[in-house]
Amino acid sequence: MAGAENSLFIRTLQGETSVRPPVWLMRQAGRYLPEYREIRATAKNFLDFCYTPSLSVEATLQPLRRYPFDAAILFADILLILDAMDRGLRFETGEGPILNPLEKASDLEKVNLSKVATRLSPVMETVSRLKQNLEPGFPLIGFAGSPWTVAVYAIEGRGGTDKKLPKLWAYTRPDELKAVLDHIVLATTEYLKAQVEAGVDALMLFDSWAENLPDTVFDWLVIEPTKKLVANLWAEGITVPIIGFPRGAGAKLPDYVARTGVTAVGLDTGQVPAFVNANLPAGFPVQGHLDPLTMIAGGKAMLNRADELIEAYRSAERPHVFNLGHGITPDANPENVAELMKHIQAMG
Ligand code: CP3
Repeated sequence: MAGAENSLFIRTLQGETSVRPPVWLMRQAGRYLPEYREIRATAKNFLDFCYTPSLSVEATLQPLRRYPFDAAILFADILLILDAMDRGLRFETGEGPILNPLEKASDLEKVNLSKVATRLSPVMETVSRLKQNLEPGFPLIGFAGSPWTVAVYAIEGRGGTDKKLPKLWAYTRPDELKAVLDHIVLATTEYLKAQVEAGVDALMLFDSWAENLPDTVFDWLVIEPTKKLVANLWAEGITVPIIGFPRGAGAKLPDYVARTGVTAVGLDTGQVPAFVNANLPAGFPVQGHLDPLTMIAGGKAMLNRADELIEAYRSAERPHVFNLGHGITPDANPENVAELMKHIQAMG
């Protein structure tokens, strides 16, 4: 155990409530910070940046110097696992990620799973350096993409799509898609196990493309692979809290919570507090879900909604980690983050 058990963040994930919620923000390290843009410019490309521990450590720490966040998140990317699986990942300026589109499950089967963690060893080096640099007991979050979201990128070969190809696989080649998901589950188990061994205190599973799926399909594309991944981690003796983030799950959220085994659930911008309180088990911890665009708007739009969310979960005695409903955008105003933090800190 890495010693963060007594932090507000971990205690909240374990089911405690407190006067003010712990806070961190998705993508808290990154382009809205001028100091990030400065060090980012020293790397040849984004992959090199992620694989250079001195830079990744610095990017993780930058937001913590500005703001009193309650947790750090490892600086890396959910797509690194596909680099380790030889999918030709590259980040082209202005285009986002590009990969060689997967044609069949057997393309992944050539990958030696035991080598995934070795290939990603710079990430584990970043984790251990961070644990040396952070105050003792300050929580560090490790993460991976959820199997479905990673499969979407692998099959489409890029992001920001309508998921047409992987959804068509679900209807026309379900066995092939299941094999892809199973393979990603195994590789991700190795990767997350290595992150925990290197010292992370909690894990987050980003299912960014869980939205707009029919409920029957959601079941085997999102819930089942996540459940397998969580069960694998438990079988490896991993006990750190696991936050699942099925973005856009909507009314399918209670089923996700009941069946995957995650410790806590990340809520997206469009999720409804009254629905969450009425439909998730009493005391089940949630994380989220202020609209990231309020970090551009600032003022009342930001503060009033923050108050509403905090009050909704406080009055239901539901453990709540305050966060955004999706990643902060590059055009967010750092002054607004400061104001939000001041506002929440003043609660207690
Ligand atoms: O501060 C943190 O949250 C830690 C670092 C982090 C990054 N990406 C850094 C990053 C984390 C947790 C992620 C997760 C991630 N990556 C997700 C899940 C969350 C979400 O947003 O839904 C997804 C879908 C990705 C895939 C990804 N990475 C895309 C689509 C892109 C390009 C588009 C974009 O937003 O820039 C990236 C690149 C990326 N990952 C950047 C950063 C800071 C920007 C690259 C740069 O600085 O040049």
